[in-house]
Amino acid sequence: MKLLVTAGPTREYLDPVRFLSNRSTGKMGFAVAQAAAERGHTVTLVAGPVALPTPSGVIRVDVTSALEMLAAVQRLLPFHTALVMCAAVADWRFKQASPVKLKKSEMRPVIELEPNPDILTTIRPLKEQRTFVGFAAETGDPLVEAQRKLVSKGLDLIVANDVTQPDAGFAVDTNRVTFLSANEPPTALPLQSKLDVGREIVAWLERHLRT
Ligand code: CTP
Repeated sequence: MKLLVTAGPTREYLDPVRFLSNRSTGKMGFAVAQAAAERGHTVTLVAGPVALPTPSGVIRVDVTSALEMLAAVQRLLPFHTALVMCAAVADWRFKQASPVKLKKSEMRPVIELEPNPDILTTIRPLKEQRTFVGFAAETGDPLVEAQRKLVSKGLDLIVANDVTQPDAGFAVDTNRVTFLSANEPPTALPLQSKLDVGREIVAWLERHLRT
């Protein structure tokens, strides 16, 4: 398969020194990209600002903001047969960003935000025969929210994880996830390395693309 993976956070700048972002480190998305490349698939990785080396054999495209990530995914998707949206896209950006550093004296305590587009929802019309996988990182009941996102974002598979656990989610090397798809019962995977979770996702895609 030709796999497009997104990874890491996005960063929404207020000015050249201040930004809005989240705790994502990109480890899960880089693990998916590495696992797919190890299986001989063609992999393009769209990465937000992260401090990780590019996995061997993977083509990497660096982006900063959600709008840049959306543009990269729109440009690259036509050359791919599957998409794994691992990135923790910032849901908001600043309504007015400044090209120069804002002086404390010029700043007000309330700063207006505007919503970023949902990348998966925006590219849904381009899906056609492609397989789309999403992630749901939740602090509440991961399965209820993941089920909602599976349907609302038109996904083939969603990988749900509870990011409140110390050994799963952000910035650690392990993850405990549940796979939810339209036609199969939910599958809870044991705690394992993110690379092994990546291998499970690639194996699911290989099975899905055969059927
Ligand atoms: N996602 C996206 N574009 C966004 C936000 C999220 O494509 N602007 C994708 C993520 O990459 C992930 C999936 O949507 O694959 C679910 O992301 P998540 O942050 O869990 O959900 P949200 O849509 O942001 O919903 P909520 O804030 O209600 O949890």
